[in-house]
Amino acid sequence: MFRLFSKKSEEVATELTFDSTGAIPKHVAIIMDGNGRWAQKRFLPRVAGHKEGMNTVKTITKYASNLGIKVLTLYAFSTENWKRPDDEVNFLMKLPVDFFDNFVPELVEKNIRVHVMGYLNQLPDFTQDAIARAIEATKNNTGMILNFALNYGSRAEIVTAVQEIAAQVEKGNLLSNEIDEGLLSNHLMTGFFEEELRDPELLVRTSGEERISNFLLWQIAYSEFYFTNELWPDFNEESLERAIASFQSRNRRFGGLSTEKK
Ligand code: IPE
Ligand code: IPE
Ligand code: MG
Repeated sequence: MFRLFSKKSEEVATELTFDSTGAIPKHVAIIMDGNGRWAQKRFLPRVAGHKEGMNTVKTITKYASNLGIKVLTLYAFSTENWKRPDDEVNFLMKLPVDFFDNFVPELVEKNIRVHVMGYLNQLPDFTQDAIARAIEATKNNTGMILNFALNYGSRAEIVTAVQEIAAQVEKGNLLSNEIDEGLLSNHLMTGFFEEELRDPELLVRTSGEERISNFLLWQIAYSEFYFTNELWPDFNEESLERAIASFQSRNRRFGGLSTEKK
């Protein structure tokens, strides 16, 4: 007989200590999952979980900025989330309006710049307007970039990039053998960021699901993954510290050999 013991990264991380003077990942990406389950546990409608999740976004944004994270990417709505009931989708489309209109003054005060990536022209006008206002109001900020993935899907992103590159080849402006990783990376939605900030060093997913759900497929080639059972509305400053403590304990080799002395 043989028994399999499984240990989640979260349980391991509780034994680790967060070192605020240690390595802080420059780009942290979070799949904010579990809002619906948080609400259902309280016999509330799912949208109550999304509302509470918005407060978590504020808490984590401020804390990430205090820790010196350079880019915080938050997966807010996927290209697949349109499959949800109309009521829920409508609520999610209105959330950015509420969020930005209330939170922008604090973002300005904290020198945080807003960026949003995704197929934004498919969003309702009022959502697009709120995004445009937040980007405009924070455009001169030089601190952390708060990057929302909204109506974002990584496969679609890669297809769009390939179409753009193919169009260049068609026009005769590019040879097919000039296509390399750098060029493809430039055409992805994260191409907006300077090169060293494009790929998240740490990818967090809450709610206990251990999958990627079409998020940043190219960009996470060498990211460290951290999964926690906490539901997004319950995630707090200590949760982020636990995730970073786990990151700090990893030995990143990028296919090479450990740099640590044996
Ligand atoms: C994440 O929470 C937010 C979005 C996907 C918009 P969910 O709404 O997916 O919550 P669960 O996974 O159903 O609990
Ligand atoms: C991923 O969560 C998308 C966001 C967090 C915005 P989902 O809840 O949509 O993912 P699945 O359906 O569990 O894979
Ligand atoms: Mg979910």
